[in-house]
Amino acid sequence: MQRTRYGRMGRTAALLAGLAVIVLPGCNSNETHPPAADATARQSPAVTSRMTTVLPEKKEQKIVLGFSQLGAESAWRMANTNSIMEAAKELDIELHFSDGQQKQENQIKAIRSFIAQKVDVIAFSPVVESGWEPVLKEAKDAGIPVIVTDRAVDVSDPSLYVTYMGSDFLEEGRKAGKYLLDKMAGRSGPIRIVELQGTAGSAPTIDRKRGFEEIIQQNPDMVITKSQTGDFTRAKGKEIMEAMLKSGGNHIDVLFSHNDDMAIGAIQAIEEFGLKPGKDIIIVSVDGGRSAFQYMVDGKINCIVECNPLLGPQLMQAVKELEAGRILPKRIVKSEGVFTQEMAAKELPNRKY
Ligand code: AHR
Repeated sequence: MQRTRYGRMGRTAALLAGLAVIVLPGCNSNETHPPAADATARQSPAVTSRMTTVLPEKKEQKIVLGFSQLGAESAWRMANTNSIMEAAKELDIELHFSDGQQKQENQIKAIRSFIAQKVDVIAFSPVVESGWEPVLKEAKDAGIPVIVTDRAVDVSDPSLYVTYMGSDFLEEGRKAGKYLLDKMAGRSGPIRIVELQGTAGSAPTIDRKRGFEEIIQQNPDMVITKSQTGDFTRAKGKEIMEAMLKSGGNHIDVLFSHNDDMAIGAIQAIEEFGLKPGKDIIIVSVDGGRSAFQYMVDGKINCIVECNPLLGPQLMQAVKELEAGRILPKRIVKSEGVFTQEMAAKELPNRKY
């Protein structure tokens, strides 16, 4: 099976088999020991211990992991990077880290360089969903397993990666929609929603939007009046919200922000415009970092759908398992919560980033 080809145990066994062929004749020619009479004698403890002294001492080599991070756009991303670095250290994995600075071409270059370095495993968090097929094929041809983390890839051949670990973004969008449906139950008249989308073409943007829309259509009064990308950053979240407020601020009932950073930027814009975030405009965000939780305690965000960035331990565990020749599940998802203002103060001390 192809997956065992990736395992280091498989490679080590092949190497040792080669060595045994080379050293065994030397072993048997040792005149202080009688030559083995039959196969049973060749497996006797005495002969085995002689073989051990002849074999060159094998230093335990570190597993080398090449990781291509997509950038440093948000608090979530910083926490994700830290988690990966810390977990690699903890599990004694040699990490070759590269920051793609939000550019797919940089990530492709990084993956190619990991292939050239012959790393044991490649992992990456893809900035956008499509366009990965050629480089993943190169990794596959080189016999290097690829783990997709955080964001999904859209490829027609699923054998191009061994596992995808990360959140269920579609479900996150649905959770945001469900919260709003409940919150606005019984309210009459149009409910005008503006949406701050994440990076165009990225898995969380596509899926959160789709999941949210799928749910809110159950209430025909709910309508998305404006939807624009804020690229998951605080600065763009503020800029886009300012523009949305200028062109009809008093007609915005709800903000659905695809992440905390954009929500926090938008809150600044709303306050500067003279409105009260969390009251005049209901705010639903995604992620669940400490600072966003503080905004929720202060009454400025109404609901946060959790998206967990602390993927490092799970990733390193998967790398180890893979190198031990084990087969990983094709999809690994973390279970995540939904937090409202009522829960915020109690939950704040538990937030890890
Ligand atoms: O891919 C996960 C998303 O990327 C997070 O929601 C966002 O904060 C980040 O930048």
